[in-house]
Amino acid sequence: MKIGIIGAGNIGGNLTRRLTALGHDVSVANSRGPHTLIALAEETGATPVPVEEAARGAEIVVVTVPLKAVPDLPSGVLDGAADGVAVIDTGNYYPRQRDGRIAAIEDEGLTESRWTERHLGHPVIKAFNGTYAQDILDRPRPSGDSGRMALPVAGDDAAAKAKVRSLIDELGFDTVDAGGIDESWRQQPGTPVYGLREGAEAVSKALTEASPERQADFRG
Ligand SMILES: NC(=O)c1ccc[n+]([C@@H]2O[C@H](COP(=O)([O-])OP(=O)(O)OC[C@H]3O[C@@H](n4cnc5c(N)ncnc54)[C@H](OP(=O)(O)O)[C@@H]3O)[C@@H](O)[C@H]2O)c1
Repeated sequence: MKIGIIGAGNIGGNLTRRLTALGHDVSVANSRGPHTLIALAEETGATPVPVEEAARGAEIVVVTVPLKAVPDLPSGVLDGAADGVAVIDTGNYYPRQRDGRIAAIEDEGLTESRWTERHLGHPVIKAFNGTYAQDILDRPRPSGDSGRMALPVAGDDAAAKAKVRSLIDELGFDTVDAGGIDESWRQQPGTPVYGLREGAEAVSKALTEASPERQADFRG
């Protein structure tokens, strides 16, 4: 599958490593340009591209930049993607440590993925946001393995969500349907499922135990 990855840091780098190892055709971009991604390209066989080209022809695009950088992505960044492209958003809102206060999230009570979606102009599927980057490399397990971790996946587009869940299964993790994007507060930072390294049953339970109120540490 042709996959575009926007952001080549902790999460984007490790997804590039695993997805190329599985045989996918990965294009990867960062803010500084493809010449700064030569080492990652040599290591993985991924194609480093300018961010404007990352989505070209892609069936899945992963947006994995700090939340505050989402408005800096070029407008039309998803233009040229394949019809029916699924856009994965791995983002988290860290107002105190990284992103600063984002008024639309705080004042309108938007989930951070709804906010991201508005900037991108395309529906997103929220996944990997509570997964430690290193676990993407270290914790894949075959389907049916008793130690297999499950990841919550939220999104409004059923077909895109199914495509993303299937890719995550291929990467070595179970998934739990966490509902739509307006409900994705259930997996935001500070919730019981955030960073949880458990199977599907525990992940489902943690999702039901979440509170829609953003915790103080994650308010700006
Ligand atoms: N770290 C984790 O374990 C983890 C786990 C789950 C979710 N997340 C979430 O996933 C997102 C990414 O986290 P991360 O830790 O992978 O971030 P990171 O290591 O800081 O990497 C961010 C990447 O985004 C790129 N970037 C920044 N602004 C950009 C722009 N305008 N255009 C194109 N690329 C841009 C950076 O490129 P340059 O280096 O060239 O600037 C860098 O490659 C965050 O929202 C984070 O909260 C992180």
